[in-house]
Amino acid sequence: MRRRLIAGNWKMNGTVTDAIALVQRLKILTSDVQDRDIAVCPPFTLLDAVSKMIIDTRIFLGAQDMFWEEKGAFTGEISPLMLKEFNCTFVILGHSERRWIIGETDQFIAKKVESAIRNGLTPILCVGERLEDREANKTKEVVISQLEGSLSLVKDPESLVIAYEPVWAIGTGKPAYPEDAVEVISMIREWYSTRFGKEKGEAVRILYGGSVTPSNIDSFMKEKEIDGALVGGASLNADSFARIVKYLM
Ligand code: PGA
Repeated sequence: MRRRLIAGNWKMNGTVTDAIALVQRLKILTSDVQDRDIAVCPPFTLLDAVSKMIIDTRIFLGAQDMFWEEKGAFTGEISPLMLKEFNCTFVILGHSERRWIIGETDQFIAKKVESAIRNGLTPILCVGERLEDREANKTKEVVISQLEGSLSLVKDPESLVIAYEPVWAIGTGKPAYPEDAVEVISMIREWYSTRFGKEKGEAVRILYGGSVTPSNIDSFMKEKEIDGALVGGASLNADSFARIVKYLM
């Protein structure tokens, strides 16, 4: 049985004061949650404050990106060792905003994924098609090519989470239909099993992301193929994120 994961991606939002207030309330609201994993992924500047606040909780910490080298002359970058210093468990890699706004390629993401795993972090690898891909019936082709590219340097992924996030659903208020998400997620698991073996394919958690809200989370989590959610906008409010964490409860 795969343990489900609800992860909040705060993106480029929040001051230390905001983060403290949010996490304080989230801790209270989710203190009775036991049967699923919860993670928050704040910007780098808030990792210190948030990591201190969640020491005595079951909430995991994640970062939103990292560079593949451990240290050196890489101005502006953050290394896996730096993330580990703040007890990060997860690191989001290959988010579509980094692919399409910053210009990250699969080759770039592959180095990050390999480095994260080697350094004991669990990547939340994001894949997903753009609207034009979907309209051209190229969803599967695009997603598989992202998986092949981003996982090309990984031989035996000890721990990895995949988030299927259709680009057209992110931040638009237009989520995918759960059955469409299930179709792509099943295809991802099939690909993964072929690539890394049946056991790994059964174990890998595959999340859905894109306009997840308190009002639609239950419809996604009713689908047994969907192992959780990566939540952007709705994770910036403790009450709405807690409601998402408490899906079907
Ligand atoms: P959203 O973002 O929930 O605001 O659509 C999801 C994401 O980008 O991970």
